Amino acid sequence: TQRTLVLLKPDAVRRSLVGEIISRIERKAGWQITALELRSLGQETLEQHYGEHKGKPFYEPLVEFMSSGPVVALVVEGERVIEGVRALAGPTDPIAAAPGSIRGDFGTIVRENLIHASDSEESAERELKIFFPGLA
Ligand code: GTP
Ligand code: MG
Repeated sequence: TQRTLVLLKPDAVRRSLVGEIISRIERKAGWQITALELRSLGQETLEQHYGEHKGKPFYEPLVEFMSSGPVVALVVEGERVIEGVRALAGPTDPIAAAPGSIRGDFGTIVRENLIHASDSEESAERELKIFFPGLA
């Protein structure tokens, strides 16, 4: 089985969509939430997490947005959970996301797209170390 790092971004917390989004994850049979924390992200954590985007035009606004309020960080474990949570989330741009997906149902603009989910096994391992370093 796999595990993935999920972040419910500051817009999800501000708009009281945390329960709704977690419900969608919990509804998937066979997946388990194995860690969960509300926390505020500092510059250093965000630089590590979004380092691949450093230098891109959306990087600075992205970091500013991600530090604009607390996020909910979760570890989700289960069969093919990495691609599974990405599918639940929908494409990065909410306008392109189909109804029924989290971003399609609730997303507004590309920067404020509610949820992050690791995009590969390598990303998942790297990101889990950043957010839950104590995890086995
Ligand atoms: P994450 O799960 O947050 O990593 O989203 P993603 O994997 O769907 O997208 P990606 O890693 O390519 O980009 C990270 C985040 O940067 C996105 O979720 C958006 O919030 C933001 N972002 C990506 N592309 C753009 C863009 O073209 N414009 C703006 N304003 N923001 C972008
Ligand atoms: Mg990404």
